[in-house]
Amino acid sequence: MIYEAIVITSNTDGSAHIAPFGLREQDGNVIIAPFRPSATLDNLLRSGCAVVNATTDVRVFAGALTGRRDWPVRRAGKVDGWVLQSALSHRELELLKVKEHDLRPELTFRIVHEATHAPFRGFNRAQAAVIEASVLVSRLHMLPIEKIESEMSFLKIALEKTAGENEHQAWQWLMDKIENHKATMRGENLA
Ligand SMILES: Cc1cc2nc3c(=O)[nH]c(=O)nc-3n(C[C@H](O)[C@H](O)[C@H](O)COP(=O)(O)O)c2cc1C
Repeated sequence: MIYEAIVITSNTDGSAHIAPFGLREQDGNVIIAPFRPSATLDNLLRSGCAVVNATTDVRVFAGALTGRRDWPVRRAGKVDGWVLQSALSHRELELLKVKEHDLRPELTFRIVHEATHAPFRGFNRAQAAVIEASVLVSRLHMLPIEKIESEMSFLKIALEKTAGENEHQAWQWLMDKIENHKATMRGENLA
C-alpha cells in the first residue's frame, strides 16, 4: 500500500522544503523513494531526517507542483525539522538505511515520534481528483498531452460534484500549469 503525504525536509539554510511523495511501510518503518534529481533526496541524505504529514489540504500537493511551496509550518518535536500547520497528523523520521540506485534510491526511516492534531472527517472525491491531477502534472514532461487532457476531463467530474474552495483553487493552479506547458510546446512563452 502506498500513502500520498507531504514530506518536509530542511534545506541547507534550515528552511522547510515541502514536497508530496508516495510512502510505503515495511516492518514498522517508512520508505521514501525519490527519483533523481530531487531536492528532497539531497536534504534527506544530508540531514538524515524528515517529517511526513497527512493533510486533506490538497492545495499543498498542487502548490508544490506549481511553484507554491511556502505553507505555514512549525518546529518538529523530536527531529530538527518542520511540521505542516494543516497536518491532521505527522510522523517524525530518522534515516536508517539507503538502498542506492542511479534513478530511484530507496530510503528507509525509523519513526521516532508521531502525533495526531485533528480528526479525519471522511473521503472527498475532489481531493482525490486533485491528488491524481497533481501526479499527472508531475509527469507533464513524460506523458503525451492527449493522455493528460483526457484523464483531467474524467477527474473533473468528481471535482465539479464534490469540491470546496480549496479543491477548486488547487485544480485551477494545475490547469494553469498544463495550459502553460501547452503554450511552451507550441513555441510560445519565449519572452
Ligand atoms: C501525490 C504525489 C506523489 C508523488 N510521489 C513521488 C515519489 O514517490 N517519488 C518522487 O520522486 N516523486 C514523487 N512525486 C513528485 C514530486 O513531488 C515532485 O517531483 C517534487 O518536485 C519532488 O522533487 P524535489 O524533491 O526536488 O522537491 C509525487 C507527486 C505527487 C503529487
